[in-house]
Amino acid sequence: MTQTASRPGAGAQQVPLPLDVEAIRADFPILSRTVRDGKRLVYLDSGATSQKPRQVLDAERWFYENVNAAPHRGAHQLAEEATGAYEEARAKIGAFIGAPENEIVFTRNTTEAINLVAYALSNAATAKEPEFRAHAVGQGDEIVVTEMEHHANLIPWQQLCERTGATLRWLGLTDDGRLDLSDLATVVNERTRLVAVTQQSNILGTINPIEKIVARAREVGALVLVDGAQSVPHQPIDVTALGADFLVFSGHKMLGPTGVGVLWGRYEVLDALPPFLTGGSMIEVVRMEGSTFMPPPQRFEAGIPMTAQVVGLGAAVDYLNALGMDKVEAHERALTGYALEKLAGIPGVTVIGPPDTVARGGAVSFTVEGIHPHDVGQVLDDLGIAVRVGHHCAWPVVRRYGVPATTRATFYVHTGYDDVDALADGIRAAQKFFGTV
Ligand code: ALA
Repeated sequence: MTQTASRPGAGAQQVPLPLDVEAIRADFPILSRTVRDGKRLVYLDSGATSQKPRQVLDAERWFYENVNAAPHRGAHQLAEEATGAYEEARAKIGAFIGAPENEIVFTRNTTEAINLVAYALSNAATAKEPEFRAHAVGQGDEIVVTEMEHHANLIPWQQLCERTGATLRWLGLTDDGRLDLSDLATVVNERTRLVAVTQQSNILGTINPIEKIVARAREVGALVLVDGAQSVPHQPIDVTALGADFLVFSGHKMLGPTGVGVLWGRYEVLDALPPFLTGGSMIEVVRMEGSTFMPPPQRFEAGIPMTAQVVGLGAAVDYLNALGMDKVEAHERALTGYALEKLAGIPGVTVIGPPDTVARGGAVSFTVEGIHPHDVGQVLDDLGIAVRVGHHCAWPVVRRYGVPATTRATFYVHTGYDDVDALADGIRAAQKFFGTV
């Protein structure tokens, strides 16, 4: 059963939702608990971390109860089965983004995946192996980011520049929350070695025109890293169509466990990079005088991997595939359109980000005139509504729009119109409580 119109507000239209919200909610044990003295949990913070369906929890439990062992080591049956489960999940997760399994590297999260690439680029400058020096970054080189980046896709590049003497440049933002590409051709130039850009802003919801950035990067021979932390969970992605060199994302934002993230890299680029972390399992031959390294992806997976978490992420991918990523995207677009209309109908509320659903995902940040975002969040929390408040790890963005912070609601597969109605009612309650209306 899909949710349909029950209580339209301020002209907001409730088109039938593509996903069966009630059936999906039944899969998420946490959604049946109450918060703040018996209130229904209205979870609008999936952008920070998503809740987990029973199928993912079961997959992790299955792994620990049945096959737990260290993969890629040991000749016993459990080790064999653990390796099989780990590699089967790698293939499945690769297929989810249209990539072969040897291009999928498991990391702890998006942040670690970005650091892996940043450290590999600076390690390349001092690599003793000539084949690892192709992408070395040094003085005179430039790295390009955007003003819209999460700190995870900004600070590793600032630090890379500090380590290597390269220069950081960035693309700015327009007043309506879009990337300002008017100076793309000068900011991305012959000195650019890598462009790092988010596919979907975690704070503005903006979906960026990656194809334009990739096209310019190709003209000057620069690599492109796409931060997919907020896009891979919410829309169909095919890395071949994306055209970039790297795509990074986190399991925990796409119904999977914490502690597992993914670096997808074009094989020939990964193969030309030196390792970031070193140790067991990523080596070919080890002597006291020095060591040689495995090809990707093993070169980048030192130590015992996050095996149960990878298996859990595989189950999350199964779950999303069963829903259909086209439907997930359409579902969130309908909710976002509804939320934008509802918020537009509340005097004093200003959305920070694109005002419509064109090239925009389900992250809706807003301010409420006369009330600090943290206070808005507090009132919403008292009503059982979980949102995120603050600078959302994208401090330059709130600075760009002249606000100290925002309140942010993010949507996912279990979000329904009732959740958005609760948000709008909660904002009105905050206005009443603080006497601003
Ligand atoms: N990156 C996560 C967020 O946007 C934590 O909330």
